[in-house]
Amino acid sequence: MLGGTGDEGFGLALRWSLAGHQVIIGSRSSDKANEAAKTIAQTSSRPARVSGLTNENAVSQSDVVAITVPFSALAETLRAIKPNLRPGQILVNVSVPLETAIGGRATRTLGVWTGSAGELVASMVPNTVRVVTAFNNVSAELLKDVSKPVECDILVCSNDDKAKMIVLELVNSINGARGFDAGPLENSRTIEQLTALLVSMNIRYKVRSAGIRITGISSGS
Ligand SMILES: NC(=O)c1ccc[n+]([C@@H]2O[C@H](COP(=O)([O-])OP(=O)(O)OC[C@H]3O[C@@H](n4cnc5c(N)ncnc54)[C@H](OP(=O)(O)O)[C@@H]3O)[C@@H](O)[C@H]2O)c1
Repeated sequence: MLGGTGDEGFGLALRWSLAGHQVIIGSRSSDKANEAAKTIAQTSSRPARVSGLTNENAVSQSDVVAITVPFSALAETLRAIKPNLRPGQILVNVSVPLETAIGGRATRTLGVWTGSAGELVASMVPNTVRVVTAFNNVSAELLKDVSKPVECDILVCSNDDKAKMIVLELVNSINGARGFDAGPLENSRTIEQLTALLVSMNIRYKVRSAGIRITGISSGS
C-alpha cells in the first residue's frame, strides 16, 4: 500500500488486514510505515500480518501494489518505485487527479494528458505490469470505521481481465464492499470524475462518506 500512512491507504490496509490478507504499508519513511503497521496490528483482535517498509521495498515484496498518494505525488512515487516493479505484478491506482494538486478545489478534476490518472500510471510503468483502477470512489472515513461494513460499491477497470478478477476478489474480501467489473482502463476517466462529484455531495450533505451503489446488476463480480 504505497502511501499507506495516509487516510485512504491506511483504511484499505486496515480492512485487508482484518480480512486476513498479508499487508505491507509503504511510505517514504520506514519509521512512519512501521507506526501505521503497528496501529493496524493493535486494531486487530487476531494476529495481523502487517508490516511497514519504504515504498520501494514494499513493491519488491508484493504481488499486488496499490498507490494511494495525492495526484501531485503520483509521478514522483512511480519514478521512485519503477526499478522495483517486476513483470506480472498488479498495480492498482487509487489516486484521483483532483484540482487540489495545483491548489484548486477537491470538487473538480484536472485534465490529465493521458485521459486519467489510471492511464497515466499505465503510461509510466513497463507494459508487463498490469494496471488496474479501483477504490477511487470509496471514502477513507468508511474504510477506517471498522465498526461498520463498507456500504459502497467499488468500480474496477483494467485492460487485463485476470488482474481485474484478482482485484475484484480483494474488493469483495472487504466487509460490505461489492466490486463491479467496470470495463477497460480508459473507463478510469469516468470513475475518477465521480470522486469529485462525491466530494461535492459530501460538502452539500455535511457528511464525509458519500459513495455509490450500482443497481440493476444482481451480483458484483
Ligand atoms: N481520502 C479519501 O477519502 C479518498 C477517497 C478516494 C480516493 N482517494 C485518493 O487517494 C489518494 C490518497 O488520498 P489520501 O486522502 O489518503 O491522501 P493523503 O493522506 O494526503 O496522502 C497519502 C500519503 O501519500 C504520501 N504523500 C503525501 N504527499 C506526498 C508527496 N509530495 N510525495 C510523495 N508521497 C506523498 C504520504 O505518505 P508518506 O509521507 O508516508 O510517504 C501520505 O501519507 C489521493 O489521490 C485521493 O484522491 C482518497
